[in-house]
Amino acid sequence: MPVIEDIAAFADDLTAIRRDLHEHPELGFQEVRTSAIVAEKLKEWGIEVTTGIGKTGVVGVLKGSRPGKTIGLRADMDALPIHETTNLPWASKTPGVMHACGHDGHTTMLLGAARYLAANPDFAGTAVFIFQPAEEGLGGARAMIADGLFDRFPCDEIYGMHNNPMDEPDRVKIRKGPAMAGSDFFDITINGRGSHGARPEDSKDPIVIATTLVQQIQSIVARNIPPVKPAVVSVTKIQGGDAYNVVPETVKLGGTIRFFDTEVGELISERIRALCAGAAMAYDVDVHVDIRNTFDVLVNDGPLADAVLKAAAPVVGDDMYGYNDELVMGSEDFADMLRVVPGAYCTVGHSGGVPVHNPAYTLDDAILPVGASIYANLITARGEAA
Ligand code: NI
Repeated sequence: MPVIEDIAAFADDLTAIRRDLHEHPELGFQEVRTSAIVAEKLKEWGIEVTTGIGKTGVVGVLKGSRPGKTIGLRADMDALPIHETTNLPWASKTPGVMHACGHDGHTTMLLGAARYLAANPDFAGTAVFIFQPAEEGLGGARAMIADGLFDRFPCDEIYGMHNNPMDEPDRVKIRKGPAMAGSDFFDITINGRGSHGARPEDSKDPIVIATTLVQQIQSIVARNIPPVKPAVVSVTKIQGGDAYNVVPETVKLGGTIRFFDTEVGELISERIRALCAGAAMAYDVDVHVDIRNTFDVLVNDGPLADAVLKAAAPVVGDDMYGYNDELVMGSEDFADMLRVVPGAYCTVGHSGGVPVHNPAYTLDDAILPVGASIYANLITARGEAA
């Protein structure tokens, strides 16, 4: 089934933009080049642009020819601290930084929709194009909201999408209600006492305490959370020690908590704090705990999830869209925007077969006109709705 014809006609331009962004990836809140390109393109197409929202965020506003609702569309712009191994001609030119989650593609799809709508303004309402920085755990959505995003550009509905290289090309999926997990990040610092490795009696060994704590933390989901409530605690960092014959002073642990129920998240945090306090007392050391919420639970509005599939149907064709039964334990900071404005977030499949956040990940440029068409259809359909 076809993408919008006018968008198909400039698909090569979209590929060129996407590959240029891919070659020049920028980490969260450092998207200076990317946001300058976004702003320049939007202006070129006659769209009113505001820059510097949430540091490097950009917002474009385009009024349709008739009054109607204001619909926000959001793309993320940041890359990851990963060293790309694809060897593609347009592979990252910045060592250690890579668009390994396809945010270059998301940015380009939204630019494609903006270009089409600017040339075809015969729609009701207003389109707000939101280009967000720092999605990868740095709080870009919250930064834009704190900077007055929805006060300055009030939206009736908002939509977003993510590419999925592990799904069939062009398959569009969405889940009604809670869809992606809420997430906390935590850091634990065990300040013990160092000693010669041969004289452990002089130490308060933080390595032994750290390994014990890691095991205890794994009991939280197993023994404190009802099995019917999804939850994850992963200790993903353990850092300490430099020499074979030295017991170190300090060990640091870090990791993430995932949940769909705020109370579950709070209970896990409480248990981590209690276990750390217990270890501090038992081993006579100082244990410092820092737990911070990074993502809200992503909740899709039911009727607006229907609207996304309706907008996708003519683009991807019958049997290529539907509801996703599975909860995703991954997180997405569009969730924070959905707390303020109702909306929905879908995934779109493309070929590649290497998961996101992998150094060999690739985005298939064939997805660009597909995503741009779905976005454009959302504006023309939803601006009109009563
Ligand atoms: Ni992503």
